[in-house]
Amino acid sequence: MAFPDGFVWGAATSSYQIEGAAAEDGKGPSVWDLFTRRPGVIWHGHDGQVACDHYHRFEEDVGLMQAIGLGAYRLSICWPRVLPSGTGAINDKGLGFYDRLIDALVAADVDPWVTLFHWDYPQALFERGGWLNPDSPKWFADYTRLVVERLSDRVKHWITLNEPQVFIGYGHREGRHAPGLELTWRETLLAAHHALLAHGLSVQAIRAAARTPSRVGYAPIAMASLPDTESAADLELARRLTFGIRRRSLWNNTWWMDPVYLGHYPDDGLAMFGEDAPRCPSSDFDTIRQPVDFFGVNAYMAFRPSHEGPGDGWPLGHPRTAFDWPVTPEALYYGPKFLHERYGLPIVITENGLSCRDWISLDGKVHDPQRIDFLARYLRALHRAASEGIPVEGYFQWSMFDNFEWAEGYKERFGLVFVDFATQRRLLKDSAYWYQQVIATNGRVALE
Ligand code: FCB
Repeated sequence: MAFPDGFVWGAATSSYQIEGAAAEDGKGPSVWDLFTRRPGVIWHGHDGQVACDHYHRFEEDVGLMQAIGLGAYRLSICWPRVLPSGTGAINDKGLGFYDRLIDALVAADVDPWVTLFHWDYPQALFERGGWLNPDSPKWFADYTRLVVERLSDRVKHWITLNEPQVFIGYGHREGRHAPGLELTWRETLLAAHHALLAHGLSVQAIRAAARTPSRVGYAPIAMASLPDTESAADLELARRLTFGIRRRSLWNNTWWMDPVYLGHYPDDGLAMFGEDAPRCPSSDFDTIRQPVDFFGVNAYMAFRPSHEGPGDGWPLGHPRTAFDWPVTPEALYYGPKFLHERYGLPIVITENGLSCRDWISLDGKVHDPQRIDFLARYLRALHRAASEGIPVEGYFQWSMFDNFEWAEGYKERFGLVFVDFATQRRLLKDSAYWYQQVIATNGRVALE
């Protein structure tokens, strides 16, 4: 009883959430630098100006990854740190930071998995229309090429976009995340279409520029609907709901996955969005649908299909994380199963985890039994998928560190490593020691 041979055990972060050094060494501003200055949008007015100060402490941080025994670390590149204006002049110091970080990871035997865009969009490009500008896919491809040329001698795993549902949905439609826009449906879907084109061009750029064989993926949120029982009828209903669009909302799977993996928008989505859906030549889908090597899944929770009415349908007293997200381990069984059935690629869980109200106890340690229990339950569900033949290749816990949780500021602690934001002291939580054992036994400790 263990995970498949060669299974990748990792943890993930993103640039804006940990790096800090927001205006150092020539970095240009990102939309998050600007958005966090708006009164009232972030919990207690927090921002990512310092965050975990990872920019200055990355050597210590890589040492912690080595101590836990991570096989891989998923990080993201801050686009305006590398290209302060988004296009044009390169900031050597910014690119040099990632060079040194990658070197440190390789030296520690931690395989770097690099996400090219995890939301910190260059402010300069936003001022040129951002994702609404028809040139925006090309801007992203040019930035991709530059990063890949520089890092692909050591980086072999690339992820284009993280969770377009969130940076388009929250960022461009609901105004809850940077850049804080509340666009019309037509504009929002156009921005989404450009992001999908950007993914496709970026994959092409990676293939063209990579100096060593590379594996490429994409990391949308994947939301599975759960069956009430394992009867054939319930399973069929759960599949239909997992892959259906029943209202005008960006919180779905297929609008973001079908174009990338199947080469078209889903019919029910087109019917739902009607006149507001992007009008585009069919050749756009030749660009968007590029062969990719794995199916990145960011999964935190699943949904109850039979639920109608207020609330999220989970019964009174159902376990919930500090963020108030329902604890639904089956997300990592039905998610990979349904996604693999429909799209046919090997699955990598690119994010999964929870926030807890962690603090340092009187004994000087951070005890987080809920995190251990949560991760064990989700890993058991993932193991079930693997043991039924779903090709599951890796798992990245979110997150390596407590960090800046977007609109929630520093309220939500997702880390295996506790960060005291006043002193920047790091402390391995109990869950980090537990994860170390999980990794050392290729998952067995989570299954016992
Ligand atoms: C995901 C994001 C990640 C983090 C986790 C908790 O939606 O990709 O940056 O905020 O949620």
